Amino acid sequence: MRIVLLGPPGAGKGTQAETLSKKYKVSHVSTGDMLREAVASNSPIGIEAKGYMDKGELVPDDVVTKIVASRLSGDGLREGFILDGFPRTENQAKSLDEELNKQGIRIEMALYFRTSEEVSIFRLTGRRVCRVCGANFHIKNIPPKSENVCDYCGGKLIQREDDKKGTILKRLEVYKRQTRPLIDHYKAKGVLKEVNGDLEIKEALKGLFVIFNEAHLA
Ligand code: AP5
Repeated sequence: MRIVLLGPPGAGKGTQAETLSKKYKVSHVSTGDMLREAVASNSPIGIEAKGYMDKGELVPDDVVTKIVASRLSGDGLREGFILDGFPRTENQAKSLDEELNKQGIRIEMALYFRTSEEVSIFRLTGRRVCRVCGANFHIKNIPPKSENVCDYCGGKLIQREDDKKGTILKRLEVYKRQTRPLIDHYKAKGVLKEVNGDLEIKEALKGLFVIFNEAHLA
């Protein structure tokens, strides 16, 4: 399975990628997670990326390309992958195509999570993440058993800096301008499929399984 997940912030890409990568035993490559790890470790890339991320802007292509290079070269991708949050610009899509061409492999499917802005905003303003293990919660949809405490490790739940309302609106605007055009990039390649991202988690997952079965990807 070699797939790309497309859709606005809060569409549920990361949530579904987590489940799919376990079920199909393929790598979940999330540039958001990789960048947040770089920020947490105070590495030079993390220091550079933080300013952009906190403002809801995209990290420049050259910085992102550096951070994903090791995951996108060599044999890493041959076994299968779910790309979550990458590519996000036309340039990133071109670099990915070039790297895959070199390896003689191709994207089998780009899954577009069509999601309304209202739903994205509701999910992101309510998202809480564990600062220790990274588990995801939502104050209404997926509440922790004890307020602000992770069910899995007891760590403190926090709100992501870029999940404040103003920054969410900026991320949505950036998505429309820079990432949404990739829908046409993958449509032109004949690999685009659409899923209703507004559905709740289990219903959206059922829709994904139907699409995979129809495409003989499962
Ligand atoms: P990134 O971490 O990729 O953020 P994003 O795309 O904005 O993605 P999100 O995690 O917000 O949304 P998601 O669709 O994954 O939703 P999720 O499943 O988490 O990127 C962060 C920043 O890093 C960017 O702004 C940029 O600065 C930088 N960056 C990353 N990649 C880059 C790149 N390639 N180039 C340049 N810069 C880059 O779900 C959200 C919430 O909703 C959760 O609480 C979840 O529990 C809940 N939820 C999920 N699905 C459902 C559902 N179906 N029903 C109800 N609740 C749900």
